[in-house]
Amino acid sequence: MPTTCSAAASALGLALSLGATGPAGAAGPQDDVERGRDLLLQYRCGSCHAIPGVPASRGVAAAPLEAWGRRSYIAGRLPNRPELLARWIVAPQSLVPGTRMPSMGVSPAEARAMTAYLFSLE
Ligand code: HEC
Repeated sequence: MPTTCSAAASALGLALSLGATGPAGAAGPQDDVERGRDLLLQYRCGSCHAIPGVPASRGVAAAPLEAWGRRSYIAGRLPNRPELLARWIVAPQSLVPGTRMPSMGVSPAEARAMTAYLFSLE
């Protein structure tokens, strides 16, 4: 796919290339970070997870997501890379069969924005 055909396509290309570089270059453009925070609130991820900076996110059913940018693993077993985290948010069971984390109906684009926010947490 050419990355020059539209702003959206080039943003996607950027997200994918950043994804390939690992956590250090993971935080997306500031717009994505802010949109991601709004989406984490909207999808009520905070009903199970404590997430710094996201209103009403003090759930205790699952692990807190603080300092996400410094984590090595997702769910204790997947390498913590942006593209894997986005896939995890869309369909956790496809990566870890039997996990108690539910699929929440999040689209891939929404998951990428959430990923940008989570990786901005140091
Ligand atoms: C019903 C409760 C629940 C909701 C709602 C929920 N999760 Fe989870 N989440 C879990 C559980 C349980 C785990 C642990 C899964 C495992 O270890 O297999 C988990 C794990 C995670 C992890 C990995 C945590 C770690 O310490 O490695 C991330 C990241 C995550 N969830 C993000 C989200 C996001 C983003 C949303 C909203 C789209 C969300 N979760 C909504 C229950 C939930």
